[in-house]
Amino acid sequence: MKKESFFIKGLAGKRKLSGEIVVNGAKNACLPVMASSLLFEGGISISNVPKIEDVSRMSELLENLGAKIDSSEDQMNISFSKEISGDLDEEISKRMRASIFLIGPLLSRVGAVSFPHPGGCVIGERPIDLFLFGFEKMGASVEEKNGKYFLKAGRGGLKGAEIFFPFQSVGATETLMMAAVLAKGKTILKNVALEPEVVSLGKFLSSCGAKIKGLGTTTLEIEGGGLLKSNKREHKIIPDRIEAGCFLILGALSATDLLIKNCEPNHLEALIALLGSSGVNIEIGENWIRVKNDILSKSFSGFNIKTHEYPGFPTDLQAPITVFLTQANGSSVVFETLFDSRLNYTADLIKMGADITLWDAHRAMVKGPTPLKGRELDGPDIRAGLAFVIAAIVGRGNSTINNIYYIDRGYEKIEERLRKIKVNIERIGS
Ligand code: EPZ
Repeated sequence: MKKESFFIKGLAGKRKLSGEIVVNGAKNACLPVMASSLLFEGGISISNVPKIEDVSRMSELLENLGAKIDSSEDQMNISFSKEISGDLDEEISKRMRASIFLIGPLLSRVGAVSFPHPGGCVIGERPIDLFLFGFEKMGASVEEKNGKYFLKAGRGGLKGAEIFFPFQSVGATETLMMAAVLAKGKTILKNVALEPEVVSLGKFLSSCGAKIKGLGTTTLEIEGGGLLKSNKREHKIIPDRIEAGCFLILGALSATDLLIKNCEPNHLEALIALLGSSGVNIEIGENWIRVKNDILSKSFSGFNIKTHEYPGFPTDLQAPITVFLTQANGSSVVFETLFDSRLNYTADLIKMGADITLWDAHRAMVKGPTPLKGRELDGPDIRAGLAFVIAAIVGRGNSTINNIYYIDRGYEKIEERLRKIKVNIERIGS
């Protein structure tokens, strides 16, 4: 892992950014689509692929299973020959939660898989019980030995089943939907996740022959069948709503006029509604969002947020919105409902001068506005890492953000795009 940092000169709360910033394809839409290549005869072609570390790791995992991948610019082709291994590379899987997305399509394609407990960001315990429960319902046996899982489909492969998820899970919905595409008979998934990335994956599979009913609702009915065919049609990855949301928050705090291009405003309703009612001036077009502010500091009012499954407020924007709330008037409560350790980064914001009281592992009170002071920070995970970038831009003086591997996992060349809107940011180190 390279040891690189971002060096940022802060704006001391002034509004100095302007211009246009382009949103890339969504990491969390791209990774499951890449995993779905296992369901295809003749491979898939995707475009708007972000050049980020997680996409590289997913490519390596797929290549280890036997995939042939070629990519150029934002385009990628993935295909499998007849030989497909059922063993996920342990080293890479331990570093990336999304490795678990491969299990559904892999198990339904090859009948037996082995993998370690998946890793990922340090945002709390991330169990895989829903996945295992679903695969067992589909007739698979599950064995765990020395931290490694061994799953075997029953005789004749996975079979359709009715599965009720006790709570919504993006990854479990995606991987079981993919498993059901090649299973025998009908699978009914109830209480599924509604995130745009789930719907986009389902639409892609349907466009290639999968029989999926109910996309965008909480019940999916999938009629299993044979391998899918993309017929050389290219699938375009949807824009990253989390990246767009971060740019919007940054624009609200530090720009006079910022145009966020290539995004899907409909996927950001929760954020847009809250920022609008807090006093941020937002214009929306079909695939763009513009935020305009007076150069003189205008004060925004604080608000409470509670992270929620889509279309509620996304947990992946919880850290960036907390930075916003440090600059808004009054007391705001941030309630993280999905992950256990996703407020740890607030300790660093406090060191920068934020007035944040952690009530417990899930709730914090933010009082604002408070000026932030630049300092040295360690990027803790993808999303809090970018929140630190926003805090450093808003703050007074210089900041160095270390561990930017985490930021690179989710955002393509973020410093180059930020420099275009006049952020003073450099990548340093080797
Ligand atoms: C996806 O993770 C995203 N990752 C996450 O983004 C995002 O934070 C999360 O959805 C919620 O929106 C990808 O799409 C690659 P979940 P996922 O299963 O699928 C619990 C980022 O920064 N749970 O919907 O892993 C789980 O612990 C990442 O890009 C179980 O208890 O999230 C959580 O509390 C971070 N057992 C809740 O469900 C299970 O078997 C929802 O998580 C599965 C999940």
